Amino acid sequence: MRKFITLVLLLAAAMTSRAAEPVMPTVKGEPFIASDGKHINAHGGAILLHDGTYYWYGENRGDGTPGKGQKGVACYTSTDLKNWDNKGIVLAVTDSVGAPLERGCIIERPKVVYNPATGKFVMWFHHELKGVGYGSAYSGVAVSDSPTGPFVHLNSGRINPGIYPENLPEEYRKIQWPKDMEWWTPEWRKAVEKGMFTVRDLDGGQMARDMTVFVDDDGKAYHVYSSEENLTLNIAELDSTYTRHTGRYIRIFPGGHNEAPALFKHNGTYWMITSGCTGWAPNEARLMKADNIMGDWTQLPNPCRGEGAKTTFDSQSTAVAHFGDRYTFMADMWNPKNLADSRHLWLPIKFDADGTPYITKD
Ligand code: GAL
Repeated sequence: MRKFITLVLLLAAAMTSRAAEPVMPTVKGEPFIASDGKHINAHGGAILLHDGTYYWYGENRGDGTPGKGQKGVACYTSTDLKNWDNKGIVLAVTDSVGAPLERGCIIERPKVVYNPATGKFVMWFHHELKGVGYGSAYSGVAVSDSPTGPFVHLNSGRINPGIYPENLPEEYRKIQWPKDMEWWTPEWRKAVEKGMFTVRDLDGGQMARDMTVFVDDDGKAYHVYSSEENLTLNIAELDSTYTRHTGRYIRIFPGGHNEAPALFKHNGTYWMITSGCTGWAPNEARLMKADNIMGDWTQLPNPCRGEGAKTTFDSQSTAVAHFGDRYTFMADMWNPKNLADSRHLWLPIKFDADGTPYITKD
């Protein structure tokens, strides 16, 4: 009898803790209002869970004027994933002329991870210097002792200068490509596949625009970014501080034009959802999988199903949130006329009988 009572009590405790576990709400583009009464101005972001609090980091688009008014990276906190408090700007642009983060620079797709070994919160972001449009193709890194900042900018630049990706065959490393090849021709496509842009950018480092950071179960972190004029994804290993690249990296889907990478791991398989490359306009999402994060990766069909699937339900991926046993697809419904008012799309990820993830809007 005593055993039975203990069992009942244990079950009850398990059910209570389960019931208390926050569930990500489904969000379908309606204004997402924080406790300050305003729509959450955190775009291209992701959520970090730390010590029972959820931290949502994203691009603060100021008052929304395209190309202007970016204040830096915003952070909102929550304990239930539904009610969010605005913690302000945790990585701020500066008025200091010539500084890398000078007001007018572009900061996109910030992702924050916690490094237990150093006790630091590490933020990576896509960084374009002021006045050059999208010409820098830099990644920036910043650290903080507190999840709500202030984050201190360490540096920005291109990735792994002087180092070849480990899956670029030896014979492709020596090819001297003509500089003036016409884009989109079959020859040009072959040249891209064989690493024409990797070799072009070798000395200065690889370009990096849309990006994410993924921390694996073994504590190793990886930086995933659109490289080679947004044509090819790179997956680059970070060192034990998460603030530097180790030099190990691979190229995947050369010429595949993947952006907005969102990576997650489910039952030992790595999954990545990306978008195509059409600026702020939505396009059809892509899905890829791998048994090993450093490859090989396999391309699968669009993970979105049902009405609106061809345009990812009018959105573009930014992250997959994984809390408990639930996975949520987080995406931006960009409004290029008022980027601050871009809406959020959060949909649960479902899995087919064979374990393949898919997303529906209903
Ligand atoms: C998208 C990218 C966004 C932003 C935009 C600018 O393709 O995913 O993060 O860079 O282009 O046009």
